[in-house]
Amino acid sequence: MRVLVTGGAGFIGSHTCDRLVELGHEVTVLDALRAPVHRDGEPMYLTPGVELYTGDVRNRDLLTNLLRRADAVYHLAAYQDYLPDFASFTDVNVTSTALLYEIIVAERLAPSRVVVASSQAAMGEGLYRCAEHGEQLPDMRPESALRRGEWELSCPVCAGPMELLPTPERVANPQNAYGMSKYGQEMVAVNLGRRYGIATVALRYSIVQGPRQSVYNAYSGACRIFNLHYLLGGAPTLYEDGQAVRDYVNIHDVVDANVLVFSDERAAGRVFNVGGGTGYTTAEFADVVRRQYGSGEPGRVTGEYRFGDTRHIVSDIDALKQLGWAPRRTPADSVAEYAAWLEGMPGLDAILAEADAKMRALGVVRKAR
Ligand SMILES: NC(=O)c1ccc[n+]([C@@H]2O[C@H](COP(=O)([O-])OP(=O)(O)OC[C@H]3O[C@@H](n4cnc5c(N)ncnc54)[C@H](O)[C@@H]3O)[C@@H](O)[C@H]2O)c1
Repeated sequence: MRVLVTGGAGFIGSHTCDRLVELGHEVTVLDALRAPVHRDGEPMYLTPGVELYTGDVRNRDLLTNLLRRADAVYHLAAYQDYLPDFASFTDVNVTSTALLYEIIVAERLAPSRVVVASSQAAMGEGLYRCAEHGEQLPDMRPESALRRGEWELSCPVCAGPMELLPTPERVANPQNAYGMSKYGQEMVAVNLGRRYGIATVALRYSIVQGPRQSVYNAYSGACRIFNLHYLLGGAPTLYEDGQAVRDYVNIHDVVDANVLVFSDERAAGRVFNVGGGTGYTTAEFADVVRRQYGSGEPGRVTGEYRFGDTRHIVSDIDALKQLGWAPRRTPADSVAEYAAWLEGMPGLDAILAEADAKMRALGVVRKAR
């Protein structure tokens, strides 16, 4: 098949392209090679054999031409990071998706599948259970509580403790500009897909880990930040009390999911979580990274927190497991592969300092009093 991959020069996109080429598909990439991910133009790891078009996913003429030549589409290009320009998230992520469907319908194209990248961020603070009041979808934590160092969410009805549950796809409760745009994108894709008979799948990735994850994003997760600290001989700061829970999914498991839903008829028209299946506290994950570098220094808890962070979230991955997918790699596998990729990369100390300074300048990192 001729497959168009938007964002195919990025982390998940390039690994997906590798697999598609391996499977014998003809792959075209549309990627704007955006900063901060692509500081030096075309990345070295770009899949050999793909045809790269450097351009914006919101460029109607370019997108039309590429869609005319495609039998199927992965829409992975996105505006990300932890930035205050809210309109850019909707503009890139939602508008580009609407445009994609607009062109498919206007041109009477019939792609066999459109796979769009959504995110766990669409589920916000996720699903909890209060022993007395049952299932709860808590709202974001108030800044006043975080300033006092009160990290845990409590039942919105009785303010009592709640049990964290794996969050299934039926939950949509995004609470930041990125999550809202990803949920918007998902709705546009799945609903327009259904209305116009375009087989569409939205995948809500959890925190994806592996080589090629950009070292330049200010906010790109624990894997990058912890690896850089331990590699450079230090130890990372663990935000809040180091007990926030997340699930981490390996890039190759993500690619397995991407190719599974590409052809499985049962996937069409649906949204799936793609996660690691197991919750890790930040401190536990830091320990995985610490062991990789043979350091004896655990992460430090300093009372700092990141404004807007979710307390805990673990995706329920049962729906995709029913189709035969399961995560097969561990966070330790991801960290080992990521560490190998970082080896010998120049200027890492400057990159770490710059990312940290940016987060502080934006007022994202704050301290409890
Ligand atoms: N990495 C994760 O942990 C994660 C988690 C959840 C969801 N996702 C989603 O997966 C997708 C891929 O993420 P990634 O981690 O590979 O990110 P990435 O930044 O490595 O790749 C994104 C690519 O999109 C390109 N791009 C950005 N804006 C563009 C535009 N306007 N036009 C054309 N190209 C543009 C960038 O140049 C980049 O190559 C995104 O949609 C993201 O929201 C990623």
